[in-house]
Amino acid sequence: MKHIVGNWKMHGLQREGESLALAVASHIATRHQSDVEVVLCPPATLLTKLSTLLNASRIRLAGQDCHQEQSGAFTGCISAPMLRDAGCDFVILGHSERRQGQGETSALVSQKAKAAYQAGLTPIICIGEALADRDQGKALTVIGEQLMASLPAGVDARELIIAYEPIWAIGTGRTPTQEEIEEVHNYIVSACAGDIKVLYGGSVKPQNAAQILALNNVHGVLVGGASLKLEEFCAVIDMAASLRRVEKNNV
Ligand code: PGA
Repeated sequence: MKHIVGNWKMHGLQREGESLALAVASHIATRHQSDVEVVLCPPATLLTKLSTLLNASRIRLAGQDCHQEQSGAFTGCISAPMLRDAGCDFVILGHSERRQGQGETSALVSQKAKAAYQAGLTPIICIGEALADRDQGKALTVIGEQLMASLPAGVDARELIIAYEPIWAIGTGRTPTQEEIEEVHNYIVSACAGDIKVLYGGSVKPQNAAQILALNNVHGVLVGGASLKLEEFCAVIDMAASLRRVEKNNV
C-alpha cells in the first residue's frame, strides 16, 4: 500500500485547515481508494480538532516533530504521547528544515524516533543529501551515514518509515532523475535488509508523481507545497490508487 503523506508545515489556520482536510476526506470516500494510506501532517494546533472531524474517514494524522522525552520542563515542545493523545498515528522526524533550522542531529532524531515508537507512533524519519554532496558524488555516503545514525536502537525496521528528501529538491521545483531516486531507495532498502518502507519527498506534484510512485522501492511520497492545494494533493492520491489497481490486476 502506497503512503501519501501531506506535510502542511507551518500553514493552516482553523477554518482553512478544517475545510482542506474535510475535502480530502470526502474525495477519498467517494472514490473508495482503500489501497492508499493518506496521512495529513497539519500544524499541532489543528490535530485534536481534525482528529475528531476525520474520525469516520480513512485519513490518518501525523505530527511534524516531537520531543525525545515523554514529558518535562521543555517549554514549547510536544511529546510523542501528546501527539498520540491528540489522535496521531505517525510523526515526521528529522525533516531537513529541522536539521538545518533547529540544528537537529541524527543522534537526536534517533532518540526522538525511539520515543515516538514507544508512544505507539510510527516515525517517518527524513534523510537526504545537500546539492554539494550530490555534485561531489557523495550522496549515497551521506545518506547511509544519516540513515544509520538516525535509526532508533532496538526498533525493528518494519515499524519505521524512511522519507528520502534531497534537500535541494524541497520546495524548489527540482527533482532528482528517476534513476537517482531509485538508486537511493534501493540502497536504503538493502541497508535495512529489505524490511522498510521508503517514501520520496521533494517537489512532488501531479506532473511527476505517477513516474516517481511507479519506481522500484518507492512506497509512497511525502508532499509539501502540493498538499496544501486540494486538486493537486487529490490528483497525487488518485495516481497512487490507480497504480495500485494496475499492480493488483497484474498479479
Ligand atoms: P515540497 O516539500 O513538496 O514542497 O518540496 C516536501 C517536504 O518538505 O516534505
